[in-house]
Amino acid sequence: MVLKLTPKMNKKIFIKTFGCQMNEYDSNRIFDTVKKIGFIKTKNLEETNCYLLNTCHIRDKAKDKVYHDIGRIKKKFRSKKKPLVIVTGCVAQAENEEMLKREPYIDLVIGPQAYHKINDKIEEYLNNQKKIDETEFDTISKFNYLRNIKNSSNSTSSFLTIQEGCDKFCHFCVVPFTRGPEYSRPFKEIIDEAKILAANGVREITLLGQNVNAYNYNSFRLSNIIFEIEKIPEILRIRYTTSHPVDMTNDLIEVYGVSKKLMPLIHLPVQSGSDKVLKLMNRKHKIKDYFEIYKKLKEINSAIEFSSDFIIGYPGEDDSDFKKTLDLIKKLRFINSYSFIFSPRPGTVASRSKLIDKETSTKRLEIIQKELFNNQIKMNKSQENNIVDVLVENKTKEGNKFFGRSEHMTPVIFDANNDDVGKIVKVKIEQYNRNTLFGRIVRKSKLRVA
Ligand code: SAM
Ligand code: SF4
Ligand code: F3S
Repeated sequence: MVLKLTPKMNKKIFIKTFGCQMNEYDSNRIFDTVKKIGFIKTKNLEETNCYLLNTCHIRDKAKDKVYHDIGRIKKKFRSKKKPLVIVTGCVAQAENEEMLKREPYIDLVIGPQAYHKINDKIEEYLNNQKKIDETEFDTISKFNYLRNIKNSSNSTSSFLTIQEGCDKFCHFCVVPFTRGPEYSRPFKEIIDEAKILAANGVREITLLGQNVNAYNYNSFRLSNIIFEIEKIPEILRIRYTTSHPVDMTNDLIEVYGVSKKLMPLIHLPVQSGSDKVLKLMNRKHKIKDYFEIYKKLKEINSAIEFSSDFIIGYPGEDDSDFKKTLDLIKKLRFINSYSFIFSPRPGTVASRSKLIDKETSTKRLEIIQKELFNNQIKMNKSQENNIVDVLVENKTKEGNKFFGRSEHMTPVIFDANNDDVGKIVKVKIEQYNRNTLFGRIVRKSKLRVA
């Protein structure tokens, strides 16, 4: 059955997002765009007539999930009218033609730098019923187009992409191939978008980029953006991710000494504790550099904590390299980190290297994760009986408690009122587990006059 969407028909889009925060931001912006041609969002698969899957290609499993998901949709709609199926994101970029061949259920494949063309491409497909592969890198046109489409995000905490793409070409990574070259959005455009978000009710902005601290537009740097957003009164908290050690410049480090709104958690991926492995990865930083950054930041503000990314079992990693990674984790006590076994990505330099055996990498990953989880638990335990500032985001799914995050991004669950959403409240921590803190709000008691 061929899909026809008529102007009178309710066009309902179901968007599923895999991958990083940038994909989440993109999914929201894609929705802001397709709204212009009459789509409304649905969370009910049964009633959708457009299924959009925004994909991630960072590891093999991420790609497998995509085909698995499309297979599930195919089954679900076996005896119904087929929805329009669009695949966007990094798998779309990397597998484009291949994807349309392997899974004919897919109608359109649109790469991350071509989202500004999505409405035209949907209409073209509906008119001609011919599969579409649109994966040109046209980042400037994309942001020029999107700047005229209001960002409708109104959640308490929201993302804002300031930089996209990567020129660093770490030997393991597909991102330079899927997102294209580094691009920094114009400074004013970013501040305008931040003001729109503030007016929508957003209270925390997380600035995004594949190398967010490499942001450089007419000599405006990330530090300038932070200072400018700090001036927006409604914005209470600022974060950024993902930063690269090489771009952790002094101007950015110094912001931590003066900013009242920049949160004291820095996600700074190190990948390995061994200089030998870092060189094999083409990371362009050494462990000594990482320690220096760590030290400078701790000196500026001892409350600053770090989280990181680790790749375990990288080709060439021997026992002594692995031990260096373990030692680094023991020394720096990252409070929350991501760790994965190396996954060879097609087209990357490391995909041509000899893999180390799976049993060894699995064992190493277990050891690393045990250590990382211990750090996480210790950090949460240290908060017991403390009063922490929490930005209240929403009600929990069960609906009887509220959810927010501490300054260090740790989820906190507590009792609150609807009026507290969007505000920073003081929560006394009474219990904890590895991922979450639990407590109660400490309210200022009103003085009673006798
Ligand atoms: N730009 C960031 C940086 O350089 O630190 C990283 C962005 S990447 C989207 C997120 C993380 O995915 C990386 O830090 C790395 O740990 C992990 N990653 C990337 N390629 C990988 C691969 N081939 N195998 C396993 N993990 C990988
Ligand atoms: Fe990938 Fe390296 Fe670029 Fe990060 S810096 S996105 S890991 S190539
Ligand atoms: Fe994945 Fe692409 Fe983000 S590969 S991690 S969705 S940049």
